Amino acid sequence: MPLVTTKDMFEKAYKGGYAIGAFNVNNMEIVQGITEAAKDLNAPLILQVSKGARSYANHTYLIKLVEAAVAETGLPIALHLDHGDSFDICKSCIDGGFTSVMIDASSKSLEDNIAVTRKVVEYAHDHGVVVEAELGTLAGIEDEVNVSAEDSSYTRPEDVQEFVERTGCDSLAIAIGTSHGAYKFKPGTDPKLRFDILEEVERRLPGFPIVLHGSSSVPQEFVKIVNENGGNMPGAIGVPEDQLRKAASMAVCKINIDSDLRLAMTATIRQYFNEHPDHFDPRQYLKPARAAIKDMVAHKLVNVLGCDGKA
Ligand code: G3H
Ligand code: 13P
Ligand code: ZN
Repeated sequence: MPLVTTKDMFEKAYKGGYAIGAFNVNNMEIVQGITEAAKDLNAPLILQVSKGARSYANHTYLIKLVEAAVAETGLPIALHLDHGDSFDICKSCIDGGFTSVMIDASSKSLEDNIAVTRKVVEYAHDHGVVVEAELGTLAGIEDEVNVSAEDSSYTRPEDVQEFVERTGCDSLAIAIGTSHGAYKFKPGTDPKLRFDILEEVERRLPGFPIVLHGSSSVPQEFVKIVNENGGNMPGAIGVPEDQLRKAASMAVCKINIDSDLRLAMTATIRQYFNEHPDHFDPRQYLKPARAAIKDMVAHKLVNVLGCDGKA
C-alpha cells in the first residue's frame, strides 16, 4: 500500500468517535517504535515531520524511513508536514512525496492566514495532497518559536465557518487550552480544556475534522525517572488523558503527540546510563529507548485515541 492521505481516516474516525494519532518522527528508532506499536494494534497512523526534523534528519532520509515503515507494516500511513510556516515549505513537501501538509499561519491576521492557507490548498489539491490549517494560537515552544501563555489565544468559534469556506482546508487545528512542550499547566492548578469552544466549533462545522496540537500528557512516572537520573524537569505537567479521550469521541480526528515520546526516550536512556555507566554501543541504549516509545504509543492508541483495530 502506498502512503495515504488523511481523508478516509478522518471520515471513519469522525463517525466512529475516535481519533488518529499524529506522532512526530526525527530518526529511525522513533519511526520503528511508533510503527511497531501500530502494527501490533492494527491502527491507522499519521507520521509527522516538522521543519526542525527536516533540518535535523534530512527530507530524503525521513521519506525513506516512512516508506520502509509502510512496507514493513502494510498499515494506512499518512506522511504529514507539521507546522509548515510558509507556502514554500508546504510546496517542497508536496513536491517531495508528503500526502498531507499543515500551513500554520495562526500567528498572522485572519485575512493573511486565509490568503496563505488558500494558496497552499490550491497547490496541494492539484497534487492530491490534503491541508490542515490553524485558527487560534497555542502557547509553548515549536521550532524554536516560543509563544508565552499571555500571547496565546483560544479559537473564536464565530470565525471557523468563514475560514473553512474561504480556504477550502481539509482539517482545522483549534486552540482550546492545550500547548506545546512538557510544561503545559502551572503546578497546583486544575488543567481543563475548553470543551465549550470545541462543542461550538462542532456545531458550526458539522462533520468537519478538528485537530488538537500540544496533546502530550507528560506521564509523571517518566518525569520521576528523568529527575532521579540526573535530569531536571520539575513542574512538567500535561493534558489529562481522559480529557483527550473525550475530545477524540467528539469532532477531534487528529491528536498530535511529540513530547511524550521525547520523555519516554530520554527517561529510558538516562536510566540506562545510570545503570550501565560503562556501556558505549548506541544500540544498547537505543534498543530500550525504542521499546519505551513503542509502549507509550501502544498506550495512546488504546487509551487516548481509541483507534486500535481501525486500520
Ligand atoms: O509542535 C512541535 C513539535 O513538537 C515538533 O517540535 O519543531 O522541535 O521538531 P520540533
Ligand atoms: P506536544 O508537545 O504536546 O507533544 O505536542 C506536539 C505537537 O503539537 C506537534 O505538532
Ligand atoms: Zn503542534
